[in-house]
Amino acid sequence: MDSIVVKGGGALSGQIPIAGAKNACLTLMPATLLSEEPLTLTNAPRLSDIRTMTELLRSLGAEVSTMQEGKVLALSCHGAINTRAEYDIVRKMRASNLVLGPLLAREGHAQVSLPGGCAIGARPMDIHTDSLALMGAEIDLRDGYLHAKAQGGSLKGAVIDFPFASVGATENIMMAATLAKGTTVINNAAREPEIVDLADCLRAMGAQIDGDGTSRIEIQGVDRLGGATHRVVTDRIELGTYMLAPAICGGEVELLGGRINLLQAFCEKLDAAGIDVTETENGLKVARRNGVISAVDVTTEPFPGFPTDLQAQMMALLCTADGTSVLEEKIFENRFMHAPELIRMGADIEVHGGTATVTGVKKLKGAPVMATDLRASVSLILAAMAAEGETRVNRVYHLDRGYEHVVAKLRGVGANIERIKEQ
Ligand code: EPZ
Repeated sequence: MDSIVVKGGGALSGQIPIAGAKNACLTLMPATLLSEEPLTLTNAPRLSDIRTMTELLRSLGAEVSTMQEGKVLALSCHGAINTRAEYDIVRKMRASNLVLGPLLAREGHAQVSLPGGCAIGARPMDIHTDSLALMGAEIDLRDGYLHAKAQGGSLKGAVIDFPFASVGATENIMMAATLAKGTTVINNAAREPEIVDLADCLRAMGAQIDGDGTSRIEIQGVDRLGGATHRVVTDRIELGTYMLAPAICGGEVELLGGRINLLQAFCEKLDAAGIDVTETENGLKVARRNGVISAVDVTTEPFPGFPTDLQAQMMALLCTADGTSVLEEKIFENRFMHAPELIRMGADIEVHGGTATVTGVKKLKGAPVMATDLRASVSLILAAMAAEGETRVNRVYHLDRGYEHVVAKLRGVGANIERIKEQ
């Protein structure tokens, strides 16, 4: 398994281009199952998760081809399709469960393997399945697969009250509802920019959707959807991750394609910590205000709150802040696995359940550390860039899931970082 070696260095300067959003692309791709016409996605990120979704869609009978070195995806799905999403693929990536709604909407039946838990939590699908049941689907769990069937062959509109603003459930139900008979209302829907991006794409395909981006989404079912060409929205999590690079290392970096409205709550926390974020015509410029990082408290919440996917990276910044910060992780039950690794680098962190208390130290020290999940791995790299000495981050395949060309992007602004291929 490859590892990444980082030598702590000085201030950064230059520009980092931000790619299309992984978590938008992973829900836009299954939308091809809803139509017989071609769907073209531009600004697609080049990531292993996208390759996994491609493998899954091809296994269902969709055609997926890539152009412009993977930045453009051409998808189409005509004729009869296979409605069984195999465990072998689904276990690699939870987002595979986003084929459930589209398969049910298109074919009236589906067998989708339960994704199983992952490092950050159990990640059940009860909100997805309870909601589809309200739309007339019979779903039972057998041999690790969800066996789903729409009574009468097609789903019907329903009023659905989500117990939690689940991103994936909002996406699955929104896609399923586009072809259901009648109107579906989702109350307490997720409001993430990726939800709005999916709604924009579905509307371009002919869907009737209102209220995306708010807690109440209304979808009027239609008989069929057409094709579309859609540009994947900028990845706000990659954006936030790289905004922390100059914050942690000093200097000034411009994030090309970044906009503050994608990360309002995160930018407010950076401001409170002493980081200036300025919108430019090409993106966002980020630099420390006066050299000192102040401690801030962070609680992760559904959008528009502070994103859970930036909690680990924010912790890397707060390890050397002036004072004590309290981070509360309210979305996932086990998302502090980066803490023991940061402690190996000399951080002062105490974790109790869903709360981590970080007391700033002067400087971290390089050490061999282990990547445990996608966002934890990049937080270790950020911390290592300003640490004393050398850090070797192992199991970096996690990184390839969500960060394209991470070494090149960080070297481009002056980081001393390289990838070591393990035989
Ligand atoms: C999406 O996951 C993202 N993944 C996650 O990003 C992100 O952390 C998460 O939303 C929250 O923002 C993709 O978009 C592919 P949820 P998702 O359904 O849809 C519980 C990354 O690093 N829940 O909003 O799975 C669940 O267990 C990844 O890019 C239920 O209990 O998130 C969790 O505690 C990690 N029952 C919470 O809700 C359900 O039926 C949030 O889950 C569904 C979810």
